[in-house]
Amino acid sequence: MRISIINGPNLNLVGTREPSIYGDESLDVYLKKLVEKYKEHSFQLFQSNVEGELINELQRVANWADAIILNAGAYTHTSIAMADTIKAIGIKHCIEVHISNVFAREPYRRESKIAEVCSGSISGFGIKVYELAIMSLLI
Ligand code: DQA
Repeated sequence: MRISIINGPNLNLVGTREPSIYGDESLDVYLKKLVEKYKEHSFQLFQSNVEGELINELQRVANWADAIILNAGAYTHTSIAMADTIKAIGIKHCIEVHISNVFAREPYRRESKIAEVCSGSISGFGIKVYELAIMSLLI
């Protein structure tokens, strides 16, 4: 399976960013290990703090990926543009993931603009949400 993992703003800081919420493990290091663990599958990893770059990447991987695992960070709660892109590229599996339990935090994190156009969402199990998303594609 070809899987694109796309991370939005501030996720490059996971490991040092608010460790009580996001943990103290570097997301970058974790994802490299994860890709190694599932080496019979193909992965592309992308992170950007810029909304337009995330949109460009979603469009770019559309013809390659069987599935996208997307942590849109704070854009989850604001970006109609990203939701439009997910709808426009018509990918079968776009899984929304969040490291923290967005439903147990500030009220504004309970709304997701992308949930409606994603095939499912996984939130609140820490950094292993990425592996849970992969597992959901494989079972
Ligand atoms: C997040 C949750 C978002 O609300 C927040 O803005 C993030 C990270 C998560 O992985 O828990 O940047 O997507």
